[in-house]
Amino acid sequence: MSIDTPLVAAWSARQKADFAHVPMTFEHRLAQTGLFDDDRLAQVLDRYPADLFDINLFDFDADGQMRMQTGVRGRLPGAEVLEGVKQGRVWVQLRGVETHYEELGEAIRATFADISAQAPGFRPVQLTGQLIMSAPQAKVPFHADAPGVCLFHIRGRKRIWIYPSDETHMPQQGMEDIMLKQTTEDLPYRREWDANAQVFDLDPGMAVTWPLHAPHRIENLGVFNVSLSVDYQTWDTRITNGAHYASGLLRRWKLPVANMRRTPRAARAGLWAAHLAMKRMNLVEDRISTIERSFELDGGKR
Ligand SMILES: [Fe+2]
Repeated sequence: MSIDTPLVAAWSARQKADFAHVPMTFEHRLAQTGLFDDDRLAQVLDRYPADLFDINLFDFDADGQMRMQTGVRGRLPGAEVLEGVKQGRVWVQLRGVETHYEELGEAIRATFADISAQAPGFRPVQLTGQLIMSAPQAKVPFHADAPGVCLFHIRGRKRIWIYPSDETHMPQQGMEDIMLKQTTEDLPYRREWDANAQVFDLDPGMAVTWPLHAPHRIENLGVFNVSLSVDYQTWDTRITNGAHYASGLLRRWKLPVANMRRTPRAARAGLWAAHLAMKRMNLVEDRISTIERSFELDGGKR
């Protein structure tokens, strides 16, 4: 495939200064690659490796609290999976598209080359893409991601609330538990925090990004949505996340834990180095990989 570059429009001085520091949006041209059209999506769904294919069904109560069911794809052909998404409250995610949807992988790398050319000092060392197809009524509950994230919106409309990554909205211990895989990325959420959020309505061709670990939630605005979420790691995000991992273990051992928001990079790097050794020792049990998959898209409950 020849990619018609640039895939990211030129940034203003403000956008350059804001990137990774405050929530910000920018324009992209990924939809024009044709990689997200129905027939292409159906083909990709048909052949996608089952272990990288997530299907989630979300229910929310009146307080916005979420109950999630995780399912498997079943034996439906890709075109019917796509149809199911368009009709339901279902949310399908293909992980590892940077590798398993090769042309999209190329487009992701070209996009980030454009971003790196504009964002001062931004040098991602790892890019991981999730292609997300979600139903008109789908919502993604309040959560925070361990890596940095750029969300490229491709089809449909959605609204994102991005909250401050302070101790109220994103307690440090919550991030430690995420790093130690003691919990999924979902966090306690209170409706009144919406007043503290920055809110963006995303149209096709818009991308949004936020500071590392800023919690967020998303609601589709009544139409079928296609988005590409790209996780990035830089040396800074790796060091910060490794430091959270080490702090999480120190906390479990009832040892003093530093406030990571006020810990200088050199000290974080020390914790990061410690976490490499701790990780090799396998000190905590991964509680995430055992979450049960409770339904199949083409059948009843399992
Ligand atoms: Fe997220």
